[in-house]
Amino acid sequence: MESSDEGALGRLKVLREQVSHHIHCYHVLDQPEISDAQFDVLFDELVQLETDFPHLQTPDSPSLRVGGGPSMAFKQVTHAVPMLSLDKCTTEIELRDWMSRSQQRLDTSEPIQWTCEPKIDGVAVSLVYEHGRLVLASTRGDGHSGEDITSNVRTIRSIPIRLQARDVPQRFEVRGEIYIPLNDFVRYNAEAERNGVKPMINPRNGAAGSLRQLDARITAARPLTMFCYSLGAVDDDWQPETHMEVIAQFATWGLRVNPLMQSIDDLAAGMAYVEKISNFRSQLGYDIDGVVFKVNRLSQQRRLGAVTRKPRWAIAYKYPAEEVVTQVENVEFQVGRTGSITPVARLQPVFVGGVTVSNATLHNMDEITRLDLKVGDWVMVRRAGDVIPQVAAVIASRRPADAIEIMLPTQCPSCGSPIIHSSEESVARCSAAKQACPAQRKEALKHFASRLAMDIDGLGEKLLEQMVDIGLVRDAADLYRLSAQEIAGLERMGQKSAENLVNALQRSKATTLPRFIYALGIREVGEATAAALAGHFGQLDQIMHASADSLQEVDDVGPVVASRLVEFFANTAHCALIEGLIGLGVCWPDVEVSSPAELPLLGQVWVLTGTLEKMPRQQAKARLIALGAKVSGSVSAKTHQVVAGPGAGSKLEKAQELGVSVINETEFIEQLRTLADD
Ligand code: IVH
Repeated sequence: MESSDEGALGRLKVLREQVSHHIHCYHVLDQPEISDAQFDVLFDELVQLETDFPHLQTPDSPSLRVGGGPSMAFKQVTHAVPMLSLDKCTTEIELRDWMSRSQQRLDTSEPIQWTCEPKIDGVAVSLVYEHGRLVLASTRGDGHSGEDITSNVRTIRSIPIRLQARDVPQRFEVRGEIYIPLNDFVRYNAEAERNGVKPMINPRNGAAGSLRQLDARITAARPLTMFCYSLGAVDDDWQPETHMEVIAQFATWGLRVNPLMQSIDDLAAGMAYVEKISNFRSQLGYDIDGVVFKVNRLSQQRRLGAVTRKPRWAIAYKYPAEEVVTQVENVEFQVGRTGSITPVARLQPVFVGGVTVSNATLHNMDEITRLDLKVGDWVMVRRAGDVIPQVAAVIASRRPADAIEIMLPTQCPSCGSPIIHSSEESVARCSAAKQACPAQRKEALKHFASRLAMDIDGLGEKLLEQMVDIGLVRDAADLYRLSAQEIAGLERMGQKSAENLVNALQRSKATTLPRFIYALGIREVGEATAAALAGHFGQLDQIMHASADSLQEVDDVGPVVASRLVEFFANTAHCALIEGLIGLGVCWPDVEVSSPAELPLLGQVWVLTGTLEKMPRQQAKARLIALGAKVSGSVSAKTHQVVAGPGAGSKLEKAQELGVSVINETEFIEQLRTLADD
């Protein structure tokens, strides 16, 4: 070793220790000992030294917490101990029953101790430490295997890459939840909007998306953190007796644990905890959806075991969706992509479910009638998870004398064309053609650029609106004609972001046929239908010239959708736009038309019911259709298979009555995988 190396090595050691220490103080203990600027000086020196002496770089250096270059894809990881989900309850009686069942099963008269802790609404992950070093981080996946997200997780500063103790087991696994604190979420989205970057839908979605980035540098820029809440696989050299002991030990090793975790001895204390956390919910600073109760003693947990992927030793007490009372200040009418007119309540801002809400959708005029809502009314607003805030009910007794009746406007608020409310549908519509109504144009362009359509990065809503307002863009083809110079001249855009957008537009041109069809924004043609059309016809031309009858040969296409398609392609303006887009370089690979041999589920009728937790319902539906199945909304003797998630009700009962085969979501995903492998 050269002498300069030795000097550098010594300094590197000191710097790594100091940086790790301050990261821990700041991100785990919430007690920084130095200022951010002082930290940056240390951190920058570390990065500089490692750049100058690349051979002295180590995989566990805290400098790696800014993320390395892009990786290709995520490897699959099999969990040594399956990652289970939780049974749910929502009432004191159900909790009491669960407690007494545990007592009976354990067949012991000695009192059982339970633990309780908030149920974090984030993403479940597993961390494996070997000799105190983080060697593997993975997602829960289907519970048996997940994805290797180690390089992304290394960028999260509250997760130690090296534990601060010598007494750690040789190898052990930590389970917990990665999430985004609410104030960081709000801050991130405000900045995203300023920079024309896609905002996060909600903190949980944002956390999941951040962990699935192929480029860890993107993850590094996201405000992720973690609470560790249980032990997975562990070597024999550590045999803790209780859950509380595990958590206390985690904390001493530098793993972040929830300070609100506690043990209780009976139902009354459990309910008091549920109540306490519920009252405290809006001040926690992170989204939760309930309280998790666990049997404290690990030997008892083992004896209780699990049924169908759910442990008997734990249960989630779920809170109802949060509700608050506020006043409706006004009702405005928004114009959608297809001209639909949606009433939106402007509310006196209130804090609910961790965010400030000032708008709630009212869906349509029928909903206003059903609620008997007037402007000025006091209403109950509900927000659950990622659901858009809803007006749950009007508080009739508090109606002010001057409350104003809500009337559907006669003219489109955007273009002034007459609004039509036909008796056939609940939605009212602007009668103008898309091109003649700025609001419709904007919405159509937003849809075109959206993630599941052409996926144009950096083309935010505000930016698009600006482009339409100043007449720079009229239709989708105009987007591909924009120069960096024109974009740079827009508000809040610089040369660099303009160039990025031009590149993103360029990249988006190479698409797929299903995406392109979906991007066209044909009424009633969602992702699943677009995929089914592409799979059936193979070529866009064929779809454009298909008759309503031949369109109906496609699964998922009924008479209404078929007539929408025929109508859409009969419009010469639409055909000219498609031609224009192709002329500008939008292209896709040929789609192989699925032959019956590749449709293992051909002729089968499937029903999806209850909540699907791992795969969006639309995606599940699209996969089934692509395999040849029909997806129906109701169970009958003709149904081949029912997929039932939590909360499944009458359809599940009906299936059981008729003896129709029922599987859960995990089994469903396994089947899809097997079918795809065949
Ligand atoms: S314990 C087998 N504790 O809830 C029990 N889970 O619905 C392992 N979750 O997949 C989970 N906060 O993602 C536990 N304090 C907490 C939790 C928690 C959130 C999530 C976890 C799990 C899901 C089950």
